[in-house]
Amino acid sequence: MSYKETAEEIRSFGVAHTPIEIARFAVRSAVSILRKKGIKEINALDAFTGDGVFISALLDCGVRNITAYEIRERMALLTARKFDGLAKVVCADAFKSRDSVFNLFVGNPPYGKCAESNDIDRRIKETYCSRQKNHTALFDAYVRAVRWASDCLRSGVIAYVVNNGFLENLSFDGFRKSLEEEFDEIYIFNLRGNHRTSGERCKKEGENVFGQECRTGIAILVLYKE
Ligand SMILES: C[S@@+](CC[C@H](N)C(=O)[O-])C[C@H]1O[C@@H](n2cnc3c(N)ncnc32)[C@H](O)[C@@H]1O
Repeated sequence: MSYKETAEEIRSFGVAHTPIEIARFAVRSAVSILRKKGIKEINALDAFTGDGVFISALLDCGVRNITAYEIRERMALLTARKFDGLAKVVCADAFKSRDSVFNLFVGNPPYGKCAESNDIDRRIKETYCSRQKNHTALFDAYVRAVRWASDCLRSGVIAYVVNNGFLENLSFDGFRKSLEEEFDEIYIFNLRGNHRTSGERCKKEGENVFGQECRTGIAILVLYKE
């Protein structure tokens, strides 16, 4: 059963479809860290599941305890049916959940702005905003997703496919510093593809892993907390 998203839906919910190879790479990196640390019981959450590409990647990696959230009801229903008996897929707003049972957070958080969340925004102000002046970009959905997962995670890994703006943008100095303070190991795979640049810089960025329609540079961010 296929589902064609409208342009309005794509914009409002920050939808992008992750190629399975990218999802597998992110999941494999995260799972290999957990296994190297001797953690056998993996309890995974894909909080922004869409059509469930990260669920497939988790299953490919042998992870069996999988929960997934999706905010769009129809999409959640279709994905729940697709993975019936293999993963628990529920229609939920990830940012309203505060579950700390998961030791692996994976996924591709929404792109662009998202609805405000008092708790998460307060935490962003307390942590990421503290060291610089222009805060606007720090309220992007992917930053909220990192803040939210970081606060839910007691010990384990976060592996997200995200906008790579946090790597060089001056206004992310507090974000970068906080990652260093909050995590014991950080791995970043910069997949580039920023086509908001021009000329030579744009050529050097190369193709975007999401295809021609995506102009946002992409990175895989893997964070381990002991
Ligand atoms: C960038 S897409 C990723 C979709 C899919 N996992 C993939 O990678 O191909 C983000 C997904 O998160 C969903 N979403 C947006 N905000 C959400 C929220 N607050 N809670 C749960 N899901 C959300 C969107 O509807 C969309 O399906």
